[in-house]
Amino acid sequence: MSEELQNVQKKFHDEVVTIKTLQEAEQLKVKYLGRTGIVSELMKVIPKLPVGDRASYGKQINSLKDEISRILTEHIDKLSIGKKPAGKREVFDPTLPGKMYNPGKKHPITQTIEDIKDVFSRLGFEVAYGPEVELEYYNFDALNIPSDHPSRTDFDTFYIKDDILLRSQTSTVQIRIMEKQKPPIRIIAPGIVYRPDTVDARHSFMFHQVEGLLVDEGVSFADLKGTLNQFIKSYFGKNIEMRLRPSFFPFTEPSAEVDISCSLCSGKGCSVCSYSGWVEILGAGMVDPNVFEAVHYDAEKYTGFAFGLGVERVTMLKYGINDIRLFYENDLRFLSQF
Ligand code: PHE
Repeated sequence: MSEELQNVQKKFHDEVVTIKTLQEAEQLKVKYLGRTGIVSELMKVIPKLPVGDRASYGKQINSLKDEISRILTEHIDKLSIGKKPAGKREVFDPTLPGKMYNPGKKHPITQTIEDIKDVFSRLGFEVAYGPEVELEYYNFDALNIPSDHPSRTDFDTFYIKDDILLRSQTSTVQIRIMEKQKPPIRIIAPGIVYRPDTVDARHSFMFHQVEGLLVDEGVSFADLKGTLNQFIKSYFGKNIEMRLRPSFFPFTEPSAEVDISCSLCSGKGCSVCSYSGWVEILGAGMVDPNVFEAVHYDAEKYTGFAFGLGVERVTMLKYGINDIRLFYENDLRFLSQF
């Protein structure tokens, strides 16, 4: 390459490393490759050269021109990223259909828990929570469940260690709240419970309960019945009937199991209600004085009621769902219906 061309090449390389903006790159392009730029000036020399030298000189200029052009294009491309090409401004067309996004939804179990919270908050209940990994004391002892009770065996409870387990009922929260607070108490406690049941259409090793507890002076069984009736009518609708059957729980006395008229067949009888017209949704009763003793409450002064409701159960009844496993399979065809 001739000395003159080498000088131009070197000068270009010195200048190109200093460019920082697109504008500077464009200016350098005009300076070297423009119609009256440095490269064009060099070309003008060709006709004045001896005929034999012209071809090789022309080739050298062309290859220098290509080199400059390639380097500048690279710079211009890099500096133009994110910038719209001039003259091709995007036009916003407001008549085009919008992009459809599929907003997420709350899981039906979460929705039911929120519906239950709504009803009970209107009745003055606060929401409380307790741990899922629990001491045996809170799951059994403090709830007046004798040490030889069958529910304590590992056929009915998941043990982590001798005295640590996965809670099998939300009644644990009754004790934890009463240990911390003095009456009056009015709480509901939603949460997950665990039982080693074989999974089928109606059973799962993990499900949700909502516990309720009200303690005050002069609380009677009529208050329990009125509260539950209010809940059932609000959640299921005015046409649903409630009935109480005598039952037994170690931590309530007297105790009852609460049925509602089958919402699927309106009480006429179907496979869901085993053709009885009624389905059980919760256990309830008046707090046993032994439980008050465990939390150092004066059982002469205070009375109270408690209940424990199956969240999956009421959701299935309300929406006519026939298999509990649908709640846990994450199938959007099911979940998107709620
Ligand atoms: N904990 C009971 C159960 O899981 C339900 C219950 C709660 C019964 C409170 C009475 C009072 O079956």
